[in-house]
Amino acid sequence: MSDLQHRLLARLDADGKIDNTLQVDEFKALDSQQLQAALTSLAAKSMVTSTKKETDQWNLTDEAKRYVAAGATPEIEVVKAVLSKPAGEGMSVAEIQEAVTKPIAAVGQGKAFKNKWLKKDGDRIVALVDSTPTDTVLDQLNTIASTGTLADAKELQELKKRKLVTLTKIIGYQVEKGPEFSLEIKQLETDITSDMIVNGTWKEKEFKPLNFVSEGIYPQSGALHPLNKVKEEFRQIFFSMGFTEMPSNQYTETGFWNFDTLFVPQQHPARDLQDTFYLKDPAVAKKPEDETYWKNIQQVHQEGKYGSIGYRYPWKAEESLRMVLRTHTTAISAAMLHKLAQDPKPVRLFSIDRVFRNEAVDATHLAEFHQVEGVIAGYDITLGDLIGFMEDFFGKMGVDGLRFKAAYNPYTEPSLEIFAYHKGLGKWVEIGNSGMFRPEMLEAMGLPKNMRVLGWGLSLERPTMIKYGVSNIRELVGHKVSLDFVETNPAARLDELL
Ligand code: PHE
Repeated sequence: MSDLQHRLLARLDADGKIDNTLQVDEFKALDSQQLQAALTSLAAKSMVTSTKKETDQWNLTDEAKRYVAAGATPEIEVVKAVLSKPAGEGMSVAEIQEAVTKPIAAVGQGKAFKNKWLKKDGDRIVALVDSTPTDTVLDQLNTIASTGTLADAKELQELKKRKLVTLTKIIGYQVEKGPEFSLEIKQLETDITSDMIVNGTWKEKEFKPLNFVSEGIYPQSGALHPLNKVKEEFRQIFFSMGFTEMPSNQYTETGFWNFDTLFVPQQHPARDLQDTFYLKDPAVAKKPEDETYWKNIQQVHQEGKYGSIGYRYPWKAEESLRMVLRTHTTAISAAMLHKLAQDPKPVRLFSIDRVFRNEAVDATHLAEFHQVEGVIAGYDITLGDLIGFMEDFFGKMGVDGLRFKAAYNPYTEPSLEIFAYHKGLGKWVEIGNSGMFRPEMLEAMGLPKNMRVLGWGLSLERPTMIKYGVSNIRELVGHKVSLDFVETNPAARLDELL
């Protein structure tokens, strides 16, 4: 217990109560925060109760202090000077200034005229009184200096107008004994120890009550980024539908896997520098090991194969070997399907990972984003399976009543864009792109003719922004992301995506 707490308790013990700490010599000069701290902790133990008391305190300004020190207000000094001359002679302004100094003369004359102690007589200033009047203003200032106030509020206002006093509020406390009042503070135990139980001392001890209201300190911990939370939700949906995750942990691909295997012709605009990031080092990769597949791809592009007439252009191996930052995770799907061709059987595969596109960056686009992609391989599956599956898949996210619109992808035919009605926005929004992979792609890999593969993709950012109410993608990805946002945002639930 602090010395101050001891003194407060002793004073209460002696006087029964403290009306205002400001009136008690030993407390009045103390900083009010120091007093409050001492009282709050005593009050927490119910030893005292206290109430804050605000009191007006009037203080002398520097000007007023000078008058008090001089023992006279300027008006009195000026009258005194004039009265020092033989009756009726008076003084010139210059003489007064000489006698009492310029600033005193300036203030003093004005006040003395007002009080009708002096008057002007030609260029002389003469007295209207025979003797020095009482210096009431000085008396008032002295009273304020010792008591902090005056009985007469009007006088205070006058002094304030004259800028001789200022008002401040000072804080004191009324203190009374509380139910647990005592001169000593009991040391309450915070924890029961095994010793106390063994030697039985717990029976005599008093324990500090538990505070069930206190929030406690949050332990420091890592936090998942919103994109990771939504990704995890998608993963769980995929797993619940029997999917296996594809190994998508590579950001670079060759043009071959990113484009050629997907029947994207080498002149396709998506392969332009403006759309795709090409690597400088290494700029090219080795040829894929599967020579037959490599040849099949060349043929299907150049001359046509598997019942397709192809694109009929000279297919260049160099173009195919250029290294790119993958523009879609479908490059991974292609590699996995190529592997599947060694031992074809129905599979469901998915990936959720990062892709890169050389795009103009704005509030909703970055040069990199994440794709959620799924492929289903099965014998004789049809577009009806694709539509049915999409309804199931998005149904898991509470999104019903999908609409499909014919679209175009070089690697799927038919291709369908998937739309859903966004109640919040009051309009149809595109939520994915899908299609049945082309025979030019699948048969070149060596998959059997009646093994069909459907696939679809969507961005991870879009649903994440919807879920977390983020309208600018830069608040979600990049150096502008607030760590606080990442640390405090709740888990995502995809059961109601839109
Ligand atoms: N790759 C497509 C895209 O980037 C998505 C897609 C995947 C479409 C698989 C059809 C089949 O939008």
